[in-house]
Amino acid sequence: MNHKLSLQIIAVITLFAITANAQQIKEMAPGVTRVTVGEADQFSPYNLLQEKPKVEAMNQLPATEAGIDPKAIRVELNARGAVVHIPLGNDEELYGFGLQMNSFRQRGLRRRPIVNDNPLNDLGYTHAPTTFYLSTKGYGIFINTSRYTTFYCGTHKQVKGNVNVNTGAGNGNGQSVEDLYKNSNKQSGEVIVDIPGAKGGDVFIFNGPTLKNALQRYNLFAGGGALPAMWGLGVQYRMKADSKQADVYKMANYFRDNHIPVDVFGLEPKWQTAAYSCSYVWSSEYFPAPQELIDKMKAQGIKLNLWEHAYTSPASPIYGALANAAGDYKVWNGLVPDFAGKVAPKIFADYHQQTFVDKGIAAFKMDECDNSNLATGDATWAFPELSQFPSGIDGEQMHQQFGTLYFQTMYGNYKRSNKRSFFNIRSLNGFASSYPVALYSDTYVHKEYIRMISNAGFSGLLWSPEVRESSSVTELCRRTQTAILSAQTVFNSWYLKSPPWLQYDRDKNNRGEMLPNAKEAEAHIRALLNFRMSFIPYLYTAFAKYNREGVPPFRALVTDYPEDKATYDVWDEYMIGDNVLAAPLADSASSRRVYLPKGNWYDYNTNKLYTGGQTYTIETGLEQIPIFIKQGTILPMAKPIEHVDAATKFEITCYVYGSNPVPAELFEDDGVTFDFDKGQYNLLFMEWRSNKGKVNRKGNLKTQKFIVNTWIKI
Ligand code: GAL
Repeated sequence: MNHKLSLQIIAVITLFAITANAQQIKEMAPGVTRVTVGEADQFSPYNLLQEKPKVEAMNQLPATEAGIDPKAIRVELNARGAVVHIPLGNDEELYGFGLQMNSFRQRGLRRRPIVNDNPLNDLGYTHAPTTFYLSTKGYGIFINTSRYTTFYCGTHKQVKGNVNVNTGAGNGNGQSVEDLYKNSNKQSGEVIVDIPGAKGGDVFIFNGPTLKNALQRYNLFAGGGALPAMWGLGVQYRMKADSKQADVYKMANYFRDNHIPVDVFGLEPKWQTAAYSCSYVWSSEYFPAPQELIDKMKAQGIKLNLWEHAYTSPASPIYGALANAAGDYKVWNGLVPDFAGKVAPKIFADYHQQTFVDKGIAAFKMDECDNSNLATGDATWAFPELSQFPSGIDGEQMHQQFGTLYFQTMYGNYKRSNKRSFFNIRSLNGFASSYPVALYSDTYVHKEYIRMISNAGFSGLLWSPEVRESSSVTELCRRTQTAILSAQTVFNSWYLKSPPWLQYDRDKNNRGEMLPNAKEAEAHIRALLNFRMSFIPYLYTAFAKYNREGVPPFRALVTDYPEDKATYDVWDEYMIGDNVLAAPLADSASSRRVYLPKGNWYDYNTNKLYTGGQTYTIETGLEQIPIFIKQGTILPMAKPIEHVDAATKFEITCYVYGSNPVPAELFEDDGVTFDFDKGQYNLLFMEWRSNKGKVNRKGNLKTQKFIVNTWIKI
């Protein structure tokens, strides 16, 4: 071959390579742009998304300014996979990456959001490994992959061009030994994403203009936020794993006799004939008459929630049918259903529909879907990454998506039945905002539990900081306060015979030694749970706003106050709805420092007015609620009830904080069906003018749930 010809061939090949890797830019929805280079993955979060974007709500958001120019996103493809480069300005702060436990601000960190139940040195391992981050500059970036990715959040500079150009001497020029190791790269102008195995880079840009707007677009793009069944916002109590039917009856009577609110009872593994792996068959030894149980609970206003996981036991009636629709490795000798295909979800869903949903089971706790435990070498509680599934998905991508796919399978039944619910789950991934389900964990560090409330809000997730044992009554109350100020209030007594307020110590509890002051502790918990029940109308309305506008009901302060740099580091306070700031106390604290953003704030317990923009030391009693109310708020609080049902009427008192409050809203629907989606709801507008309260109800719904009868001016 002559020299000229070979040059021509090289030129053609190079041209082809450049064309093949050309950047494709596509508008996906208002303010949402997709940038693709190379081949997008088949099992990407976007391809797995079943919901439609709420385009009209996105159009209502303020006009977007390009937070990031799509053309500035650079993708390199090489033999290892894809590398995505996203510009990062010097003054930007980053948040997100799913349900992070150990850190809040993410700039300067290396993040590997990999699904796992153990955080492991803040590498990014998490129950919800969402490949999404938000910038204070007012945009969000979603990497559309289910592979294990690593984000270098402004930590590295790529060597480009002439390496001999002098750019400084490096580290070690200062006075101290520490100077040797100072990271001089923190101001790097990009986020670099490593996606081994990918044949392309696929990036979604969610423009703001503000961080909050970008977050709204992310949630709306995935179908809006979840609106759980109203009863789901009440209290959930999970029974000890070896409870029998009679124990459940006894516990229900205890709650009702002592007027302790409860809406949901959870049954843990032993309700089934086999649990590790699962049979999904009632154990006749533990629960001889399941329908009687469901009906009796219903008569007492208690819904049932069943624990399970997806690894299907040979003892299950669906094992045979699943045999050809499962992965090629077992877990606990059970099959791993291929939820990314078409066959397994149908078998799994149909069986659950007939056996449970049609019989009145209201919800499920979906356990063990988080590749536990990746952090230790001796745990084999999950299928290997090298697994293959009939649909073509591999074990790695299946792990990242397992919770989401499993949830879609189970939730589909409720949707088709026009029944709303509120589930518990151990893993989710991107574009999950519309799912009425809260994440939970076996970890138990109280401060982390609080941080996870703030972090969940950045990624379209809901988090439940469940209460189990404690070391004192004070700690138990603090944990309960955090739980009532979260998306889902759960007492997970799966290893406690009696409720933790009768004995917080695990061993003593199970030996039947109750606290000498058990009645006093019970009274504290009752008071706190009563608050939760009073708060439901406000909370439910915040969820409706999540559903319709994509604003998370629980979100970090920086979401609402991005111009206030003092909020950038505040991970242990968060907004609930638009007007309530929560500052839970961790462990056994009796006071804590609270930063209040600009404006004026009322301590909910004392009505004392505080000027914002400052930090205060606040003391909170065991029956008090660590929240602050923004001046200018009308806060609707209901007379506490013991559970929510279809006929519940909430008797509302409106508390008026300040002289010229902004009108408040309540969202009213049947609380249990999806009919609100077809316009079956009312909005109540509450105004305070000339020292008088006025309510204006607009909408199509005939029945009224909220009766506003009292106004109190603070
Ligand atoms: C764990 C779960 C606990 C409890 C337990 C029962 O994996 O996180 O909440 O359900 O299983 O075996």
